[in-house]
Amino acid sequence: MPIDPTPLTARRHGPLKGRVRVPGDKSISHRALILGALAVGETRITGLLEGDDVLNTAKAAAALGARVDHRAAGEWNVRGVGVGGFAEPKRALDFGNSGTGCRLVLGAVAGCPIAATFDGDASLRRRPMRRVLEPLERIGARTLTSRDGRLPLTLAGAREPIPIVFEPQVASAQLKSAVLLAALSAPGETVVVETQATRDHTEKMLAHFGADIRVAPAGEHGRRIALAGQPELSPRPIIVPADPSSAAFPLVAAAITPGSDVIVEGVMLNPLRAGLIVTLAEMGAMIERLELRNEGGEQVADLRVRAGTLRGVDVPAERAPSMIDEYPVLAVAAAFAEGTTVMRGLKELRVKESDRLAATAALLRANDVAVEVEGDDLVVYGKGRAAGGGVVATHMDHRIAMAALVMGIASERPVAVDDAAFIATSFPGFTDVMRALGAELS
Ligand code: S3P
Repeated sequence: MPIDPTPLTARRHGPLKGRVRVPGDKSISHRALILGALAVGETRITGLLEGDDVLNTAKAAAALGARVDHRAAGEWNVRGVGVGGFAEPKRALDFGNSGTGCRLVLGAVAGCPIAATFDGDASLRRRPMRRVLEPLERIGARTLTSRDGRLPLTLAGAREPIPIVFEPQVASAQLKSAVLLAALSAPGETVVVETQATRDHTEKMLAHFGADIRVAPAGEHGRRIALAGQPELSPRPIIVPADPSSAAFPLVAAAITPGSDVIVEGVMLNPLRAGLIVTLAEMGAMIERLELRNEGGEQVADLRVRAGTLRGVDVPAERAPSMIDEYPVLAVAAAFAEGTTVMRGLKELRVKESDRLAATAALLRANDVAVEVEGDDLVVYGKGRAAGGGVVATHMDHRIAMAALVMGIASERPVAVDDAAFIATSFPGFTDVMRALGAELS
């Protein structure tokens, strides 16, 4: 993990032009390693995101007994130990900055008769784990030690896991996935009922590996997921498509920097991840989907975005799960739109790598953009331009850092971040990608 802060400044330097590819999807990369570790035999992964978050999950999988081989850039093989087959790790598992890695592996360990200690950096140590521990305890795991429902904590997995019916109180794919991974070891059927559907990568990958998993609509926005326990997971190759949450940064940068014309290649268009594209289109952004195709079970396209005039919009709370990581950069787009943008129902942003609701508001204020936090809503008063000139505190949060730098690319004066080091957790090569398009970052 980075120790010395790495300041970075972005300044305006004409239009952005060119074609780029962003790294593999972070959510799918974590799941590929974890399900690979629980399968019997060898899983071949191509396009794995080699960011710090995912590398920590790879180390955890190895510490739990899987054989994890790095063969070439993005190419990894995982030889799994079978459902319930994890070995007790000798040392604490360190998840660094990653809530996803930590919570998903908590679930996987909860279904194995071993104890493991989970830890992370100062940001991860502040994040709530009780929401995950509670259903895992119902399945039969025990929390041996924990500082107030947070890391570091030691979990003893269930010796005789019990299938449960679980209705998460927050819309969280991490929470859902932790329960499904633990439930793999339980005899009988586990059911998760989400009132708001969240990203479905765990469900899709489990089906890909041969598990008996059924997904049906539930209510207006929800889903009912039923998983038959104790499957033998058979390895299948995994191709990781480009991460829409990383693509968001060059896409918004191009949409708000006059004269820009950019293509981001092979971006995953899973509807449960596409909220930003929907919202940018409503704002009037010129985004085209080129070469629509299927990659590794997901629809992908090359996205062409050209700069144009944006207008403020009202973003409904129901859309939040499909763009939960994109609000900081959407707020930057909203600053460059004409009129007010209201983003509703952002409570979950308070428990991300930072209090992202507060950090996003502070990012805009530091650059002279009018913004209000009203309850769980964020209101941005767009003026079609931003003064910039701010120094943004990133609070160990990669997405705050990248959103601030996108603002600096389009604003009148440069924007600096106090620490760009955490960008490597999800988007190594961010500065290279943005420079390739013509951005000035130094
Ligand atoms: C993720 C789920 C989301 C998201 C995170 C990745 C996942 O978190 O913010 O970056 O891969 O399941 P929550 O489940 O806490 O909403």
